[in-house]
Amino acid sequence: MGDITRQQVDVIVNAANQSLLGGGGVDGAIHRAAGPQLLEECRKLGGCPTGEVRITGGHDLPTRYVIHAVGPRWRGGDRGEPDLLRSCYVHALDLANAHELASVAFPSISTGAYGYPIGHAGPVAVGAVREWLADPGSVRLVRFVLFSDPDLAVYRPLLGGV
Ligand code: AR6
Repeated sequence: MGDITRQQVDVIVNAANQSLLGGGGVDGAIHRAAGPQLLEECRKLGGCPTGEVRITGGHDLPTRYVIHAVGPRWRGGDRGEPDLLRSCYVHALDLANAHELASVAFPSISTGAYGYPIGHAGPVAVGAVREWLADPGSVRLVRFVLFSDPDLAVYRPLLGGV
């Protein structure tokens, strides 16, 4: 439970939109904490398709990097949302590994403004990460940073807690 902008890890993941030019929610919090240079760097990336990720520096954040993931908007669950959501987690971890990073923190992608019910998103997120960690490369720590008690209550049993 906490604010992802305060995490002392190598890379935090942002729940961005296709423009990569900022927004509300965790995206707004990350841009505020990173400072205006993050937006300058993001402008050069030219956007990002849903289900894909891009990496930038962390600027004023305590992390070295930010991986910007574009999650799907929830449209009922039968429009490819689970595959696209899963792809955000897998591609973020692949990119962290490509940069030889050891620790990664994720927010709950798509479950705020994009309306993905956390009861559906949680198992996709935890399942994707768990499967990926069977052959983890450089990544040694993956942290899920939840932002409300109900969200934490969804994740706790998925992670084997009570
Ligand atoms: N730390 C950790 N989690 C947070 C924080 C924080 N500081 N702030 C919010 N959350 P959302 P989405 C949680 O809406 O659904 C943006 O405008 C929040 O409670 O940030 O993927 C983008 O620009 C929720 O559980 O992301 C896009 O346009 C989770 O982060 C759009 O929203 C994700 O909520 C993306 O929507």
